[in-house]
Amino acid sequence: MREKVSYTAMKFGTQRDTEIVNRHYDEQLQGFGQRVMDWMRQLDGESPYQVTRLEHCLQTATRAEQDGADEETIVCALLHDIGDVLAPANHSQVAAALLAPYVSEKNHWIVRHHGLFQGYYYFHFMQQDRNAREQFVRHRYYGACVDFCERWDQASFDPDFRSQPLEYFEPKVIALFEREPKSMF
Ligand SMILES: [Fe+2]
Ligand SMILES: [Fe+2]
Repeated sequence: MREKVSYTAMKFGTQRDTEIVNRHYDEQLQGFGQRVMDWMRQLDGESPYQVTRLEHCLQTATRAEQDGADEETIVCALLHDIGDVLAPANHSQVAAALLAPYVSEKNHWIVRHHGLFQGYYYFHFMQQDRNAREQFVRHRYYGACVDFCERWDQASFDPDFRSQPLEYFEPKVIALFEREPKSMF
């Protein structure tokens, strides 16, 4: 049986207990890329669009690659809507949090804010300000996030677009999550 900690409340924990937990944590991290792939597969269901949410993500990533984006950016494009599975009400934040330990500050910022920036294309149909993203107009990644939405995200609802399959991106996803994660307690 797997080694267990000695405590029933954490305040009674020991050095050895912490080592047991950390060994488990390291094992969990190793399979993380595969679990991310499983969550992506959950996007392959009903959607109001002409494509599934998974297909939207595949198109977004395929367009990023066709535009010459680097591997990290391609994976961010693929995963930008992964939050739809767990947290439809704040999907940008969830995707950004998942990626944060593994990606640049810039890519994190773009994923974190893409939902608001995408609002440019439909907020005015909901009596909301389509230009709400302009609160960030002076931010150094504003232009990059506008481009992410215009060139890749908003364009990727096309049933006739030929996207790469999820398996094509799998090695890139696995490689990203094999990076040493930044500690973010
Ligand atoms: Fe999104
Ligand atoms: Fe999207």
